[in-house]
Formats: sequence, C-alpha cells, structure tokens
Amino acid sequence: MRISIRMKNSIKKQFPILNQKINGKPITYLDSAATTQKPQCVIDCIDEYYTQYNSNIHRSSHILSSRATEKWEEAHNIVANFLNAKSHEEVIFTRNCTEGINLFVNTYAKENLGKEDIVVLSEMEHHSNIVPWLMLQKEIGFNIKYIPVTDNYQLDLKWLKSLIDRERNKIKIVSVIHISNVLGTINDVKEITKLAHGVGATVLIDAAQSVARLPIDVQDLDCDALVFSGHKIYGPTGSGCIYIKKEILKKLPPYMGGGEMIREVSKESFTLNNLPWRFEAGTPDIAGGIALARAITWFSETVKNMGGFDVLINHEKELVERFISQFEGIEWFKLFGSTERVGAITFNLEGFSFAGCKESTEDSNIQGKDILEFISSQGICIRDGFHCAQPLHDKFKIGPTMRVSLGIYTEQVDIDRVVQIIKQGVLRTI
Ligand code: ALA
Repeated sequence: MRISIRMKNSIKKQFPILNQKINGKPITYLDSAATTQKPQCVIDCIDEYYTQYNSNIHRSSHILSSRATEKWEEAHNIVANFLNAKSHEEVIFTRNCTEGINLFVNTYAKENLGKEDIVVLSEMEHHSNIVPWLMLQKEIGFNIKYIPVTDNYQLDLKWLKSLIDRERNKIKIVSVIHISNVLGTINDVKEITKLAHGVGATVLIDAAQSVARLPIDVQDLDCDALVFSGHKIYGPTGSGCIYIKKEILKKLPPYMGGGEMIREVSKESFTLNNLPWRFEAGTPDIAGGIALARAITWFSETVKNMGGFDVLINHEKELVERFISQFEGIEWFKLFGSTERVGAITFNLEGFSFAGCKESTEDSNIQGKDILEFISSQGICIRDGFHCAQPLHDKFKIGPTMRVSLGIYTEQVDIDRVVQIIKQGVLRTI
C-alpha cells in the first residue's frame, strides 16, 4: 500500500487544476462522479491538435487532414482495445453517455419494441437511462419495469429472476447501471446479462461510473451495448462512446443523417458509410475524441503503475471507510446507502433542509445553504441535490442529499479536510 500512496501523490501533481488555491486554501476536489479533472497530458493533447493539425477528418487529402484522420481512427482503436471490443467498428464516438443511450433507444429499441414488450431498468438508474425510455414509450407504448433496490441498497436479482420466469420473451431489453453514482453499489452486470440472454433479451450497460474504476471487458461481460462518457475518465467533456456488438450494429438503421455517415448521395437516396462512421454524422469533436484516447492511455498506464485495478479499488474503499468512520456516533450524519461502496459517498445532514426538498420553504433552506456556502468557501468541491437520480431518492423517501465522490487523485488528506469542514460547517450553524 505504501507504493500506491506514493504513486497517488505523483498522480495529483499531474492535474494542474488541483494544484491551485481557492480563497487562499488548497482545492479539495470531491466531485469526480459529476466530472473528473484532466491531467496535463490530456490538456496538451487538445492544445497539440489545435496548434498543429486542426483539420476535418475523412474529407480532404491534405497533410493536416491525413494526420487528423489517422489520429481519429487510432483513437477508436485505443478505445476498442481498452474495452476489449473485437474491433474498432463496434466503437461509436458520442458526446457523452446520454447521447449513447439515446442512440441505442432511437435505433435498436425503436426497431425492435412492440406495444406488449417489456424493457427492464432499475430503481438506481441515472435520469439518462430513464428519460429516453419514457420518451420512446410515449411513441410505442411498451412496458417499463424497474428492478427494485433492496433495503441493503443492492439490485434485487431474485425479483429479476422471477420477472424473467413469468414474462419470458416479452422481455426485450435490459438496461442497467454498472456502479450507482449515488449509492456506490457495484451491480453484477455479468449475471444480469446472463439472465437477460436466457430469454433472448438485449443488454445495455451504463458504465459512466465504472469505466474509471473497474476493468471493462465487453466480451467477458457479453453485454450487447455499453456506454461511457469521456469526461468521467479524465478525458474532455463532449467526448464519449457507445460500444455495440457488430452483429447488432450492422442491422441498425442510421441515427442521425448528414455528412460522414454516407458513402453516396443522390437527390433520391443515399448509401451508408462503413462502421462505425455511419453512426458519426457531421463533423465530430475531433480534438475531444483524440484526447479521450489520450486520457484512456494515461489512465491505463497509471493504473498499471499503481499495481492494477485491485489497488485502485482497495484504495477507494479505504478512503470511503476513512470518511464514514469519522462520523461514527454523530447523530446528524445519515449515510444514504451501504458502507460497502465505491466512488460516491452520499449522505444527509439531519435537521437541515436543502434546496429541492419537497417540504422546504425559503426559510427552512437557509441553514443547509449556509453550510454549503461555508464548505465551498473553504475550497471544497462536493455536490448536493438528487445527482440525476430522483426516482432513487423518492424510493427511499428522502430529499436531496450531499455527495463526496472520489477520483484516482483523491488522497487521505482530502477526506480528512472535507470531514473537518463539514463538522465545522454544522457546528457553526446549530
Ligand atoms: N451523473 C453525474 C453525477 O452523478 C452528472 O453527478
């Protein structure tokens, strides 16, 4: 472990934003579930693109365009290798997870769902894995069932098995989150995929929070599709990916029409480009995609130097325990979720009311707002609200929560600081 801590120190130094001060205080960034910070090499990669070879891809034959095209294609290969996809043809670059899910819903799901069919989601989904389904449901009228979250904050797989036994091949799609951005629960998506495949259903996995903390092997998981956002794996905002198995992808209708996705166009018709370009209509965020690949290469090397994913996840678990244990016996601290978690630690401060509380009034919000302002003034960045998972909060009948979330650069000192400042914030308010 000593080795990993030493590595961690040098990891933080690679992030210029984390080495600045806010209000004269060192920045303590604990909002990586919302977005991660970017190492210098990713920032340099974007800079290099715009200063050395900014050009459109797959269009002109000049030297700049050839270099940009080569880098763009190489970026797809890097992402494909990282996910262990069979080929770059299965990797479509998107702006984020949300766009990936919308692509899947508006192509595969739209083509394959009928009125009587069932789509299975879970009660711990992010809004981006609920709203696109609700939108399509309005058009088609299929049923949506939610895998319940148990009192131990796990997905109820017994419930799923019994649904599968009852409804069999009416279940067409199962779409679930890998790691909850609120509860920090790691879901057994391999087992869920196996169960779904048993009745011929197709499986989509939302890997937004898992991609930067667990090894992702799409062939081993055997999922049919998987999405992630670049900005949650130390890459730029506006970058991301959907992986779709080639057997499925080659039968899909196009998502958006325009340049790049076609081979030939006449006044009457068009023919489609090869995979994956036929799903990347228009000029993409070229710098973003190339820098996403740089981030993934950096992340893979960094995890390897730390000693592998086990070291990374154990370090996170130690940080989680360090945070929670410092609130032991304090009655105003209410953890939301289990102590066994990764990535995100979500909690409530009992007796305080925060914006978004259903029962709150302008007056009752004041105390909560004061604490948040105090925390922020100390250079601490955490998130409050529903974390884009309101149905999960509703299920447990709780209002908005506060969340501390971790990244590869998070150190014990960050945890100790946030604990101290939360305690100070509460004590100075009551
Ligand atoms: N999904 C992101 C979060 O959990 C935005 O904060």
